[in-house]
Amino acid sequence: MNYRIALLRGDGIGPEIVDSACQVLDKVGQKYGHTFSYTPYLMGGCAIDATGEPLPQETVDGCLASDSVLLGAVGGPKWDTLPGHLRPEKGLLGIRAALGLYTNIRPARLYPSLAAESPLRADISAKGVDLVMFRELIGGIYFGERGRTDDGKTAYDTEKYSAFEIERIAHAAFRSARLRRKKVTSIDKANVLESSRLWRETVHKVAQDYPDVVCEDMLVDNAAMQLVKNPAQFDVIVTSNIFGDILSDEASQVTGSIGLLPSASIGDSTRGLFEPIHGSAPDIAGTGKANPIATILSAAMMLRYSFSLEEEARCIEQAVDGVLEAGYRTGDILGASKAIPLNCTEMTEKILERI
Ligand code: IPM
Ligand code: MG
Repeated sequence: MNYRIALLRGDGIGPEIVDSACQVLDKVGQKYGHTFSYTPYLMGGCAIDATGEPLPQETVDGCLASDSVLLGAVGGPKWDTLPGHLRPEKGLLGIRAALGLYTNIRPARLYPSLAAESPLRADISAKGVDLVMFRELIGGIYFGERGRTDDGKTAYDTEKYSAFEIERIAHAAFRSARLRRKKVTSIDKANVLESSRLWRETVHKVAQDYPDVVCEDMLVDNAAMQLVKNPAQFDVIVTSNIFGDILSDEASQVTGSIGLLPSASIGDSTRGLFEPIHGSAPDIAGTGKANPIATILSAAMMLRYSFSLEEEARCIEQAVDGVLEAGYRTGDILGASKAIPLNCTEMTEKILERI
């Protein structure tokens, strides 16, 4: 079977890491008898340079015509002074919304072979970290009404959620928990925010459909603390767009490197958007220092969530595990180890060999 993948390579290290992930997909395709065809489209800073806008219509149409979308990263200092509606990030938010991708799945797992890289105290990291965050992706303050008063001296952004928006992400989280350790932690700020009170009520209603899954609430400030104090307590987390943005960076760091963590954004169809959770790292772009693992693992998530190719997804994940266990490191996960850091191409080669 042939799968048509739209590539949004983006800016900074984006093109290098997407290239690595495509090599890995091709290798898996050879092994299992699938082909992947790739069509690149512009999004982010590169699209601004070429067309004047961060998300050209051609890109939206191309993604809608594809079976799934693989994204590198967007943004960089070059575009940081542009007005909000023309920034590279606007392209990313626009494509998430245009494809209806309301569920953002961000797993954070502490690799035993990398435990020394975690900033957690050894007695805390020894208990392990294996959680997955379900972040609502196309609602809340990111998409609420915003503006400034006429004198420009007051600005506002609006956090707003409907029960419908909360229900669909909650169902996604509970379904996933059923396949894992059967616990959902819903994170909100219900002691202050009305939108959080609706969030909590709605999650509780959804929870009634999943009596086999434990559901607990946690206030976001406490959650920020619990993630470093006792991350082993978390299985599935479900939360709003902005809280999920912040907490997923925190969760990623407890695992030792943001360079390892993939993400999937999905909606009601099988077409999704798969991207590393890290940014475009303009400071190391073109130097070969980028860690391709997060993007390679994002490609594995694409196989799983868009194409239902579970065995193929696991094959990639096991290759990555094997390479890390064998002690191969890129510079960002070198830590105290005495390994010679591999560059992006060499790390990709090591993973290809194991597939
Ligand atoms: C992320 C990023 C984006 C977000 C930015 C680049 C708009 O931080 O994917 O977490 O805030 O969603
Ligand atoms: Mg973020």
